[in-house]
Amino acid sequence: MAYENIIVETRDEVGLIRLNRPAALNALSAGLVADVNHALEVFEGNNAIGAVVLTGSDKAFAAGADIKEMKDLSFPETYLEDFIGSWDGVARARKPVIAAVAGYALGGGCEFAMMCDIVIAAENAKFGQPEITLGVIPGSGGTQRLARAIGKAKTMDLCLTGRLMDAGEAERAGLVSRVVPTANLLDEALKVAAQIARQSRPAVLLAKEAVNLAFETSLAEGLKAERRSFYTLFATEDQKEGMAAFAEKRRPRFKNR
Ligand code: CAA
Repeated sequence: MAYENIIVETRDEVGLIRLNRPAALNALSAGLVADVNHALEVFEGNNAIGAVVLTGSDKAFAAGADIKEMKDLSFPETYLEDFIGSWDGVARARKPVIAAVAGYALGGGCEFAMMCDIVIAAENAKFGQPEITLGVIPGSGGTQRLARAIGKAKTMDLCLTGRLMDAGEAERAGLVSRVVPTANLLDEALKVAAQIARQSRPAVLLAKEAVNLAFETSLAEGLKAERRSFYTLFATEDQKEGMAAFAEKRRPRFKNR
């Protein structure tokens, strides 16, 4: 399907979504978010796809919500219509989504990256929640996911001053899992996604669920759920194959069942 604001491709078992509004530095318009949600749903329903990469351009992953589109909205319009209520499609994906971030990831752009499961940054990446400079605050996880990812001190710093954080600081703070040369960003992200897509799908989805649970429940509940999922995976053919392959010193051939 052709989209207006994104380019969608598949690379073997990996789905690739590129944000594509270059004139607005990939600002998140309602149309762009709808396109991303739709493309993700299609990948979710496609059994041939095991992981998704979400990326932008070399200059911008996304420079935030589209300020020109929202500047004249009133409180009732935002609140009653839940203006950004559908923006968490990335966070709802069950398959792993990897953000490949080059250039600006600001406001809603940083929030989009944080909804992904792994953030890989190019050396030129810049992260921030500059909403305060517009007279508002983050609306799509910038105060909540960022605080969970990097702690209160830096989150307060970023959200209250609007300053940007470079890739090195983002990696040290724990927002980003790796920093790579800008020219290699997409290749590296696709490699990580392909490595995930090769694993047993039930194990991958349960691993993702279990890690996410760490941010939503108590340690005792999280440990209980983790152990239950570990035991559950012994009901899969892939567990038998994975462990047999180890014992036989060969690569496993997972069938996702
Ligand atoms: N919305 C709409 N248009 C945007 C945009 C945005 N968030 N960010 C950039 N653009 C547009 C610019 O208006 C400009 O368009 P024109 O050529 O038509 O004037 C074009 O993209 C290029 O931008 P700049 O000329 O500003 O490029 P620059 O290199 O000088 O600066 C920048 C880059 C620092 C990212 C700057 O564009 C900027 O500060 N953008 C806004 C960042 C921001 O405040 N994001 C938060 C938005 S609010 C939000 O996201 C709410 C939420 O939590 C849900």
